[in-house]
Amino acid sequence: MAEAWWAVARSEEVTSAKPINVDIGDQPIVLWRDQQGAVHALEDRCPHRRTPLSLGCVLGNGMIQCGYHGWTYDGATGHLKDIPNLKSDVKFPALYRAIPFAVAESGGFVRVCLDAKAPAPLLVAKTLPLSGTVNVALEHEHYIAALFDDPSLVLAIKGVRFTPYLLAELAEHEGKLVLERSCQWAGFHWPSPFSSDFPITLRIATDPVTGECDLLLRDDGFRPLLFATLAPVPAARGVTQIRWRATLEDNRHGMRAKLLGAGTPFSVHSTIDGAALRVLKPSASIHAATLRNEITARSAQTSAA
Ligand code: FES
Repeated sequence: MAEAWWAVARSEEVTSAKPINVDIGDQPIVLWRDQQGAVHALEDRCPHRRTPLSLGCVLGNGMIQCGYHGWTYDGATGHLKDIPNLKSDVKFPALYRAIPFAVAESGGFVRVCLDAKAPAPLLVAKTLPLSGTVNVALEHEHYIAALFDDPSLVLAIKGVRFTPYLLAELAEHEGKLVLERSCQWAGFHWPSPFSSDFPITLRIATDPVTGECDLLLRDDGFRPLLFATLAPVPAARGVTQIRWRATLEDNRHGMRAKLLGAGTPFSVHSTIDGAALRVLKPSASIHAATLRNEITARSAQTSAA
């Protein structure tokens, strides 16, 4: 868990104009970008009086300055570099150091790892053009389970109805949990209980630790229609922060597939329907939990060996 890389921001959310606050669980983190474009991540607490550093500002030299008494910290190391009105040759005690975290940026996401010595994550080359951020008042684990059991509680794809039927059992593939759900065009076919015609499918490949998932909507010829990445991160007070990016395939076949391009093709809900969630029977999420435990136990054995 400590070695996991969490997509805590979209690239465009992190600027040198103003630091921002994000969380990984109960760990508050301040993010900002220096004038060279590099992103920095420190614990979002000033070591002086524990004021959030995200209330401060980014200086012209790329360091962050606390908004309370103006102490200034280096983004790469977290070392205290300046206290207003002190002579420049004064040495600052190492005690006054903000905790630095590992940062990586690719594919339009800024990822942070709480273990500064963790190996770098795989780079994602492509940045998908559609994007958004939502905060949902639901624990991370329950959010992922809802996505597995009924994607319509979590997201919407224009004109698409997710059915309860899986094309195949959820399975492990290249270290991810993969499931493929049968879908229909909304209002075009009979609802799923009365029709076994599923012209589209939604494939969801999920990281077993972070829950970050790649979604692929395909037509009946298994040609791609839409691709999205959904990155849910556990935040403070049981909230899940979700960043997402998506794109439509240009070359789509059929009238309904072409209509995906009219309006908003993909969105992630900012609230969850509690009444629907309460009565949702766990299905794919049960199998996912078992597989996830197997994968994490296996990787723990590998790192211990
Ligand atoms: S609380 Fe940050 S400088 Fe005093």
